[in-house]
Amino acid sequence: MISAAVDTQGERFSQPVGGPTSLVDLPNTLRPVQSRNPNRKKVLFVTSELADLVKTGGLGDVSAALPRAMAHLHDVRVLIPGYPQVLESDNPIHIIGELGGHAALPPCKIGRMDLKDGLVIYVLICPELYEREGTPYGANNGRDWPDNHIRFARLGLAAADIAANLAQIHWCPDLVHAHDWPAGLAPAYMHWRGSRTPTLFTIHNLAYQGVVSLASCPELGIPEHALQQEGMEFYGKLSFLKAGMAYSSHITTVSATYAQEITTPEFGCGLDGFLASKTQQGLLSGIPNGIDESWESSTDPHLTHPFNIGDWEGKAQNAAHVRNLFGLDDSTGPLFAVVSRLVYQKGLDLTEAVSSFIVENGGQIAIIGRGEPEEEQAMRALALRFPGQIGVRIGFNETDARRMFAGSDFLLMPSRYEPCGLSQMYAQRFGSLPVARNTGGLADTIEDGVTGFLFNESTVESYKAALSRAFKVFAFPGLLNAMRCRAMAAPFNWCQAVEPYAELYEQLVAKALGRSGKQ
Ligand code: ADP
Ligand code: GLC
Repeated sequence: MISAAVDTQGERFSQPVGGPTSLVDLPNTLRPVQSRNPNRKKVLFVTSELADLVKTGGLGDVSAALPRAMAHLHDVRVLIPGYPQVLESDNPIHIIGELGGHAALPPCKIGRMDLKDGLVIYVLICPELYEREGTPYGANNGRDWPDNHIRFARLGLAAADIAANLAQIHWCPDLVHAHDWPAGLAPAYMHWRGSRTPTLFTIHNLAYQGVVSLASCPELGIPEHALQQEGMEFYGKLSFLKAGMAYSSHITTVSATYAQEITTPEFGCGLDGFLASKTQQGLLSGIPNGIDESWESSTDPHLTHPFNIGDWEGKAQNAAHVRNLFGLDDSTGPLFAVVSRLVYQKGLDLTEAVSSFIVENGGQIAIIGRGEPEEEQAMRALALRFPGQIGVRIGFNETDARRMFAGSDFLLMPSRYEPCGLSQMYAQRFGSLPVARNTGGLADTIEDGVTGFLFNESTVESYKAALSRAFKVFAFPGLLNAMRCRAMAAPFNWCQAVEPYAELYEQLVAKALGRSGKQ
């Protein structure tokens, strides 16, 4: 139960939610990292997932990693809804602010949670919207919540309220960085209120758009002038994603190739024309994701047998563990892994179609993931069809995922599109070579024939041709191990992303200050 009183003094904390009940101040160890950057900005990172607390995919990983990777340059704090997974975490939450309602959006409270390494999380507390069993987006049966437009409009509005200092939390961002459709209304509400605070909107996946009927306008408090092509109107409906793109100061997406692909009809999800014009105006760019330092095969505590580059015996022990975990027979053939959300994007139907080819050639497949009920069913059926050769676990846990990257020889990632993709980077770091479609971030992070195998068409033939190459390499241990070495040494980290984001933050703030005439 949430029973915290609001402390209108802001940073003097009140009664924590779900933690000890004494009034406390933060110990010094929890203070955010101090920075020498004279251009240090306050950035509010608005997201629906954070891997420390709750995640359904890569957005959660990025939301957890990027603010930390930037901490030495900018003061980045995260705003996330108060789902049960957030409220029930071990970290106490102190109520520091209160926000009024608007249209059909209910009032809410702002809690502050300090993670052990100093990352500050603002938790949007609104039990009627967020305290439900399930994922951030729906019930455990995979169905989306019918009031997601209200739930995530409330998230966007809370960000706008914090930017307007309405929450009185004694911290007002210089820039708001919103992610994907659930945060799409943050830049929109800010724009409609005439806010001068700049906004950055990052597209992690263009296919999830948060589209609702125009009839929702009054509930969400959307002004009539927003219903135009340059606003949030999308083929006679309202699109949260388009709102984020239309009203933000700048748009990024998570790889250079995807930034270009989404300006074409094949990948543009009906927004290619709009995005092409943003590119022409210099308002859309691609900044690739990285992976954090916990991805180190020699020290990862999740692994039963941590191993170094070159220790292929150690890697084989991880493979034995995975075979055991998935009920696979002992084998000297290659072990393929699928670690994925089970959704159309990921091309699992193609893996289903090539599974007999893999098994007939002596390969085995271990599959972990959850997602759409039909896809889950199809994966279960595969395991039944090939007992001892294909094993499936419906669900997700980080430990098993890491062990699979470490134990497998190849990762299957035949995505129809892939904005960036993290799994192929995790796999490479742990010596598992991706067999992946040549698209988006996969194209940018896999070197064909050097650190993995790429195929061009979303077809069984094209996929099989790449698999044949993988089988051939597996037959030559010298070649296989040389590729593993290259993959494990590939320089995936957040450094390459931190600099462009930091520069963009600084530019957007400078531009906004110039426009408003402030110093
Ligand atoms: P996407 O975000 O499209 O799922 P990425 O490759 O960027 O793809 O990120 C996948 C991340 O999510 C990895 O950390 C992976 O281990 C994790 N993951 C994969 N499947 C699931 C799942 N069903 N639930 C939660 N996390 C998952
Ligand atoms: C999305 C994309 C994935 C990307 C992730 C993090 O879920 O599908 O490709 O890596 O976001 O940006």
